[in-house]
Amino acid sequence: MSVKTLDDLLGEGVSGRRVLVRADLNVPFEKGSDPRVITDDGRIRAVLPTLVALRDAGARVIVMSHLGRPKGAPDPAFTLSPVADRLRELLGSAVVYAEDTVGPGAETAVAALEDGHVLLLENLRFNAGETSKDAAEREAFAAQLAAFADVYVGDGFGAVHRKHASVYDVPALLPHYVGGLVGRELDVLKKVASPEAPYVVVLGGSKVSDKLAVIEALLPKVDKLLIGGGMCFTFLKAQGHEVGKSLLQEEMLSTCADLLARGGDRIVLPVDVVAASAFAADAAHDVVPIDAIPADRLGLDIGPESVKIFADAVSTAKTVFWNGPMGVFELAPFAAGTRGVAEAILAVDGFTVVGGGDSAAAVRTLGLKEDGFGHISTGGGASLEYLEGKTLPGIEALEK
Ligand code: 3PG
Ligand code: MG
Repeated sequence: MSVKTLDDLLGEGVSGRRVLVRADLNVPFEKGSDPRVITDDGRIRAVLPTLVALRDAGARVIVMSHLGRPKGAPDPAFTLSPVADRLRELLGSAVVYAEDTVGPGAETAVAALEDGHVLLLENLRFNAGETSKDAAEREAFAAQLAAFADVYVGDGFGAVHRKHASVYDVPALLPHYVGGLVGRELDVLKKVASPEAPYVVVLGGSKVSDKLAVIEALLPKVDKLLIGGGMCFTFLKAQGHEVGKSLLQEEMLSTCADLLARGGDRIVLPVDVVAASAFAADAAHDVVPIDAIPADRLGLDIGPESVKIFADAVSTAKTVFWNGPMGVFELAPFAAGTRGVAEAILAVDGFTVVGGGDSAAAVRTLGLKEDGFGHISTGGGASLEYLEGKTLPGIEALEK
């Protein structure tokens, strides 16, 4: 099996060729902003080297991405237009923006595209074929996209775990190449999958159910598994603590109890939390021990004692993988847990990886030293599924 890379493509020569690049430009926006304000452009910056290399080599670069989860039809709330503006600023050159994905606007723009120019198609998910479970429907949409180009570059790492037309079906129709970002992400994940010990994993985020498969897969491998974020309350409840109005997945209680029994002292939970009267920046809030969460309050962050315990657990690690914030870091009163744990990971003398979406955004929005981490991934779901040992459709398609 020989997989071709972006370097191979550049070596072949791309001047005048139409190159379709699947990127993941699904960036977060400031809530309620109009015009929409991007809060973290990390995903755009991460794919820039690929776009710059193609542009500078004279390719006609056609970029495609999804944004959010529109329902298979155009929806102005999910337009990629603000992303086109940001991409233009970052590239420092023109970006043609097509007002549809495969319609007349896109067709005209592709036909007019010049060598060394960049075009961004409108949100892929404005088309039902993109995410369809029906292979024929996906393939029909994929054929329309493939007709725009001579070759395909898969560089949307954050979406490689999705069996979607632009990720899975288009590469089957065109000569395809692994993008530079996807290549770098996979190199890092391979290293994390055979970690140097001690190996410490820090998990947060809201739902236990989203992390269950990765916890199962990692439990036999880790020296410590630290659990914060909304998901810690289901574990705490499974241990017999009352969690008030905190996020709770009742149906996962017995699963959590079982994991705790199997994990023993390798699983580390918070010992204190910030308990708030409401999910709001101005809500009354106090640090309380986990056996004293008031019935009418909800935990929105881990407390300072927990940060100390988590920091101590990572301090001797040689490999750290972190996915998911420790609290509602977007609201200032509940950001200290995520900040504290991130700072502890920054101080680690070893290989540290921030795995994806929310935690990567946290690092940047909290103003932490980005280059202090070994790697900041652009894909949360994708890196978790990789570490679970699952086949990633977007990688499988590039390897065929
Ligand atoms: C993400 O942000 O998780 C990726 O862009 C994939 O998006 P999705 O979870 O909506 O498929
Ligand atoms: Mg996601």
